[in-house]
Amino acid sequence: MNDFVTIVEVGPRDGLQNEKLKLSAATKIELIERLAQCGLPVVEAGSFVSPKWVPQMADTAEVLKGLKTLPGTRYPVLVPNMAGFELAADAGEKEIAVFTAASESFSQRNTNCSINESIKRLDQVARAAQSSGIKVRAYVSCVLGCPYEGAIKTKVVSEVCLKLNQLGCAEISLGDTIGVGTPALANALIQTVSSVVPVEQLAVHFHDTYGQALANILACLDAGIRIIDSSGAGLGGCPYANGATGNVATEDVVYMLQGLGLDTGIDLSELAKTGNWISNQLQRPNNSKAGVALNHSN
Ligand code: HMG
Ligand code: MG
Repeated sequence: MNDFVTIVEVGPRDGLQNEKLKLSAATKIELIERLAQCGLPVVEAGSFVSPKWVPQMADTAEVLKGLKTLPGTRYPVLVPNMAGFELAADAGEKEIAVFTAASESFSQRNTNCSINESIKRLDQVARAAQSSGIKVRAYVSCVLGCPYEGAIKTKVVSEVCLKLNQLGCAEISLGDTIGVGTPALANALIQTVSSVVPVEQLAVHFHDTYGQALANILACLDAGIRIIDSSGAGLGGCPYANGATGNVATEDVVYMLQGLGLDTGIDLSELAKTGNWISNQLQRPNNSKAGVALNHSN
């Protein structure tokens, strides 16, 4: 099995969309540039969603405009519909991420439409993206549980993933939006979903509300996963899932992967400094245990 793991850094989008303190575009740009300099191959740079729904992301066009990009890093943005796609294309994006859910209630609260309606919107976006040569990643939220509906059937997750795969989405990220998953269930989910979508095209996206994220990631690595979403300093939460904490911290994931002999190409010591810096900017504690430990030992 491949010993390289691709980390998709989602802090500047998933993290900052739910932080109380709104950062300036200049500070967001500095964060994205520092993350890229740490060797992160993918840094999700923002989202083109309704500014009424998520005001923290309203300046994504300004952020992209000011960004000095590195050739080894990709900078996708999240879009929910054609309006978002047009804004991303105007900003010169080469890669976007679309999103739906495996829970009807979450889909309604997050995008004001049913799962089927959201897939119709994504179909339109995926077609437009393909004809413009823009790569599409897709997220499925609530794969291991929903804040409104509780347990979610794996069959529903698989069906949604299959549809997204058929729309031409190059990669599908399985979101444990409220961090309720546990390792055996996470492993079983990957086993089932990888029977309809090749495991190389699957990513995992764990929020760490119940402290299970690293254990879940280990279980998913065992099932063949090699793409992991995470957020420097464990930033964020979810605006439509009360009480959900941020993503698993990138520093913690990289530290674990190094211990397993898996390569990420990331400079952990620089990443730990960046995690501390952004936590200070946000006036909040650093949620990465490895990050805190590394900063103390240096
Ligand atoms: P709606 O209110 O049904 O949309 O929202 P609408 O089409 O009726 O438009 C309402 C207004 O929004 C209009 O403006 C549109 O122009 C504008 P008005 O006429 O009122 O001035 N609008 C837009 N503006 C900018 N960009 C756009 C856009 N679209 C419409 N793309 C909509 C539907 C989907 C737009 C809304 O529900 C929305 O923006 N939702 C996004 C919510 C969000 O960003 N959630 C967080 C990201 S998902 C996530 O975090 C989960 C993930 O991390 C994985 C996991 O953890 O599970 C990915
Ligand atoms: Mg998320």
